[in-house]
Amino acid sequence: MNILLTGGTGYIGSHTAVVLAQAGHDVVLYDNLSNSDRRVVNHLAHITGRPMTFVEGDIRDAELLTRTLRAAGIEAVIHFAGLKAVGESVDKPVEYYANNVQGTISLLQAMQAVSIGTLVFSSSATVYGEPQYLPLDEKHPTSATNPYGRSKLHIEEMLLDVAKSDQRWRIACLRYFNPVGAHDSALIGESPRGIPNNLMPYIAQVAAGQRQALQVFGDDYPTPDGTGVRDYIHVMDLARGHLAALGFLAHHAGWHAVNLGTGHGSSVLEMVRAFEHVSGQSVPYKITPRRPGDVAACYAKADKAARELGWSAQLGLEDMCRSTWKFQRQSESGSSR
Ligand code: NAD
Ligand code: UFG
Repeated sequence: MNILLTGGTGYIGSHTAVVLAQAGHDVVLYDNLSNSDRRVVNHLAHITGRPMTFVEGDIRDAELLTRTLRAAGIEAVIHFAGLKAVGESVDKPVEYYANNVQGTISLLQAMQAVSIGTLVFSSSATVYGEPQYLPLDEKHPTSATNPYGRSKLHIEEMLLDVAKSDQRWRIACLRYFNPVGAHDSALIGESPRGIPNNLMPYIAQVAAGQRQALQVFGDDYPTPDGTGVRDYIHVMDLARGHLAALGFLAHHAGWHAVNLGTGHGSSVLEMVRAFEHVSGQSVPYKITPRRPGDVAACYAKADKAARELGWSAQLGLEDMCRSTWKFQRQSESGSSR
């Protein structure tokens, strides 16, 4: 199948490109490079042994999207492109709605123009807001506490309306929990620009001696060790979830929301210990006040993905830490993105 990946040179998009290419699909990467590097395209060719088409463009450019979809004979789109930093979204809501919501509208217009109805959307566990119960299943009420989360929620709702309007649409909203780790080659991975917002890249930089200490945001949560609990999922497992979603959509029309998580929560301190164990480095940390907006615990009920997509996460914390560490060291030597 010919598949377009918006945001295809980004963290999750690039790993998904590997899985799709290795499953025999032809992938076109579409990205404006606002948060990724064009060298990823070469790394992907190296990993998969086949060149990959890259189009530099913005998802808000519906004309270029339409031309690209038509020229490449695209049959399905996986929509990763968007801005994703929660804190930044509070300061720059207009940019977030423009990129994420307006960008998705433009993508839908382009898809409609060339009659492509199969779409997999990168949603997030953030659409559940403050958990009312755990684990989070797909029936949990949705809400948003910041513009980033609200953009994901708006898009999901928009996609539901679109799917209701015409039976030819086949749409999966994949609600990711906390993606971490990297491809085994260490050629691609997560390279945050500036100070990492997220736990895993921050830990990796502390272990590498690039930062002095991790700040643990709060140790007074109602969790076993008082630190925040999340459902960390290996990015290669997540990537395989997209392939499974495409397989599912081949036989199911309509709108579907599915969690992609492991079903297992780990605390900040558990992550620190796992990383120390795998890397052999110490990860100094200090306890600081809670980060505004954080929830105590968030982890998935992953049964629907197993039942409907035939997918479940295979890789554990050790694999997540090992691949992150390998990518960190390779990045320092300058051979990754
Ligand atoms: P990323 O920033 O690495 O990748 C996103 C890509 O989209 C980047 O390459 C960026 O250059 C591109 N992009 C941004 N705006 C664009 C635009 N207007 N036009 C074209 N390209 C544009 O992020 P990621 O971690 O790979 O996330 C991918 C998707 O998954 C995002 O939609 C994100 O919100 C969602 N998600 C991520 C996480 C996470 O923790 N990483 C969790 C839940 C959901
Ligand atoms: N944390 C620290 N110190 C840090 C960074 C994080 O203690 O320097 C803690 C947080 O308080 C939280 C846990 O580590 O308890 C995980 O934090 P992340 O920032 O890595 O991830 P979040 O769960 O806050 O958010 C991520 C994505 C969001 C997405 C959400 C659900 O960043 O975009 O997962 O998918 F919405």
